[in-house]
Amino acid sequence: MLAIVWQENIKGCRVTVASAAWGASRKTGSMTIYEEIGGADAVNAAVDIFYEKVLGDPLLTPFFENVEMGGQNRKQRAFFTVLFKGESDGAEAYMRRSHASLVRDRGLSDEHFGAVATHLNATLDELQVPDHLISQIMGAAAGLKNAVLNR
Ligand code: HEM
Repeated sequence: MLAIVWQENIKGCRVTVASAAWGASRKTGSMTIYEEIGGADAVNAAVDIFYEKVLGDPLLTPFFENVEMGGQNRKQRAFFTVLFKGESDGAEAYMRRSHASLVRDRGLSDEHFGAVATHLNATLDELQVPDHLISQIMGAAAGLKNAVLNR
């Protein structure tokens, strides 16, 4: 249910929020999650915690072994930008394109997706992101699952 609600939000590219309890600013009105959560600062904070978890997970490390590190920093930020901005048109195709060879050549599957989602949830928890935003972000991730797994 939540995923469906969020899918609609992704398409509209906006979410309506009462106030931002997390991040530097407290605003009201219609904002993207990216804005509500604190923009680039929030992405930076989340990236460090998240990738420590992902790269420390033996199930996932093999996928990142051959990834070029300069680009990886950009890619790490892009991961959160996709989820926080809920970027809509093109996000599914972008995710399909970026992960198709991992599915084909390295066996990227539900199991790996589940592990990444668990680390994402734990990261957002650690950063004390409000529950309603965590739900929306996890919904956004779930909504991209079939694209990531090229189904
Ligand atoms: C909703 C879930 C996911 C999102 C939003 C996401 C997002 C992204 C983004 C934005 C990129 C960078 C693409 C580019 O511009 O080059 C990327 C690359 C990558 N992702 Fe994901 N990803 C997700 C799930 C996963 C999962 C489950 C894995 C499993 C290990 C994974 C492994 C990778 C790897 C290894 C790369 C680098 C590929 C390469 O350049 O060789 N991703 N992902």
